[in-house]
Amino acid sequence: MQRSACLPAALLLPGLLYSLTVCRGEMCGTTTRASAGDDLAELRSKAFAAFRAHCRPKTKPKTGGDLQFCSVFTEAKLPRTFKFLLEPFSTPFRLDFDVKIKQGASIALAEHNTDESVFAEINIGGRVNTKANVRPCYLICLDIVATHEEQGLVNASEYRPFWIDYKGGVVRIGKGGQEAAFVEWDAGAYHQRVPTRVHFGVSSWGNAEGYWKLHQKCA
Ligand SMILES: *[C@@H]1O[C@H](CO)[C@@H](O)[C@H](O)[C@H]1NC(C)=O
Repeated sequence: MQRSACLPAALLLPGLLYSLTVCRGEMCGTTTRASAGDDLAELRSKAFAAFRAHCRPKTKPKTGGDLQFCSVFTEAKLPRTFKFLLEPFSTPFRLDFDVKIKQGASIALAEHNTDESVFAEINIGGRVNTKANVRPCYLICLDIVATHEEQGLVNASEYRPFWIDYKGGVVRIGKGGQEAAFVEWDAGAYHQRVPTRVHFGVSSWGNAEGYWKLHQKCA
């Protein structure tokens, strides 16, 4: 920072390194290594491009159609296998997602990214799309611990929006645009254990292909 003026400072060093530094606001610098045959102008434009890519303020994600999401496809097969494609969540958390599926959109909260570590499974559109059922684990314990009866929760030809939140061991699921959950279960009380990092997985229960948009970047 040779000057107080807020201009990028360019410096050609022996060994052909071209550096840029900004002195307004946060400091940020990049260093670009010249390739054989680069002339000064090329080097300079490369360095500026690197500077722009690294040092510009990050733009906030736009709302609406440009929102970043993680797309997942879940195949129709039994036994089902969860796909854990997001970074684990620190708790509490909330996730919005959309799913297009004929029936049996299955979501899992797990301690690790494995089927065996699932501690809550929510099957939206179970029993031929007439219910949402919550089970306390994957596959082995099939007992239902919470249920909600409703026809047509999911649809094979159009995405339906939902949200899930998890706080203090309690998991809740609701429809997009509705504040109230349609099903809720205290996993912490049941398991006598409240994990603080939670993996989120999705699967198709049985004979339906699922298309998911999780409103979070893929890991
Ligand atoms: C899926 O949604 C479409 C459009 O709303 C509707 O016409 C159709 O009946 C729905 N399918 C089922 C099986 O509910």
